[in-house]
Amino acid sequence: MNAGQASRSAMSAAVARGTHRLWDKPPWIVDDPFALILVGPGWEEFATASRALVSPEIFRRGHAGVQIRSRYAEDRLLEGGYGQYVILGAGLDAFAWRRPDLRGSVRVFEVDHPATQAWKRERAATLGLPASDEHVFVPVDFDTEDLGLRLETAGFDWSRPALFSWVGTTMYLEADAITDTLGIVARCARGSEIVLSYNLAWEFMDESGRAFLTAITPAAADQGEPIKNSFAPAEMEALAARAGLAVAAHPTAGEFDIRYCAGRTDGLRPFALERLVSLRRPTT
Ligand SMILES: C[S@@+](CC[C@H](N)C(=O)[O-])C[C@H]1O[C@@H](n2cnc3c(N)ncnc32)[C@H](O)[C@@H]1O
Repeated sequence: MNAGQASRSAMSAAVARGTHRLWDKPPWIVDDPFALILVGPGWEEFATASRALVSPEIFRRGHAGVQIRSRYAEDRLLEGGYGQYVILGAGLDAFAWRRPDLRGSVRVFEVDHPATQAWKRERAATLGLPASDEHVFVPVDFDTEDLGLRLETAGFDWSRPALFSWVGTTMYLEADAITDTLGIVARCARGSEIVLSYNLAWEFMDESGRAFLTAITPAAADQGEPIKNSFAPAEMEALAARAGLAVAAHPTAGEFDIRYCAGRTDGLRPFALERLVSLRRPTT
C-alpha cells in the first residue's frame, strides 16, 4: 500500500456493497446502507473507474463476488454462534453499524492496515457513527506486525471461540503473513474458525475470472496494492493443515451461485477467481 494512504481497494469494495442496493434487485445478498456514506461523495468516481475496466457482464460477476464473500463469512458467524468476530483487512466494512441486532452478543474486532483504519475512524467520527466497547479497532500491518500480540492488547479472549473473516485481502500480502495468521487462529479456543478468500491459480479460474484478473492487475499495482499471490485449492488446504486447521468448507463459485443467486431476477452470479475457504481449529 502507498505509505500513509488508505486502501483504494477497500473503497472500491465498499462501493460494490453500497451500489448493490442501488443497482440490484432485493433480496440483497448483503445489505450495507453505510458503505457509500463512508466512502463519501467520491463514491461515484470509484464506481465509474471499476466499471470501465471490464465488460458489463464480467463487471457484474466481480460485483456479485464482493457481496458473496462478506455474506458467507457472516453466515458462518451466525451459524457457529460465535461471541467474537475478528474482521481482518476490514476495509470500510460497516458490520458493527449495520448489525445492531448483534450488539451485546458479538464482540467485533476490526483489524486493518493503520492507514486505512485511521481514515475510516476519522470518517466514522465525522459522520457521527456510534462508538462502543464491543467494537474494537486494532491497527495492524500484517506484513510487519504481530497480529496475536495486537489482538491480545486489544482485549481478545483466547479462551472463547472466535470467527475470523479475511476476505479480499490475502492476495495483497506476502505469503508469510498468511501462514502466520493461520497459526494465530490455530492458537485460539477450539472450534475457532477463519473464513478467508484467496485468488485461485490461473488454471483453476474460469474465463470470466481470468478476464477480470487481467484487467485489474495493472490497476491494482498502479494504486499501490499489487496482487502478490494465488493458490491451487490443494495448496491452500495443505497450508491450512500445516497450521493445524481443518477444512470446514471449501465451496466453489458454482455452489455459491446456487446458494445465494438461485432465483435472482437481476442475473447476478459469481465467477471463479477469488475462492472462499472456511478453516477451523478442531474441537478435539
Ligand atoms: C480489497 S480491501 C478488502 C476490504 C474488506 N475486507 C472488504 O471486503 O470490503 C483490502 C484490505 O486489505 C488491507 N490491507 C492490505 N495490505 C495490508 C497489510 N499489509 N496489513 C493490513 N491490512 C492490509 C487494506 O487496508 C484493505 O482494507
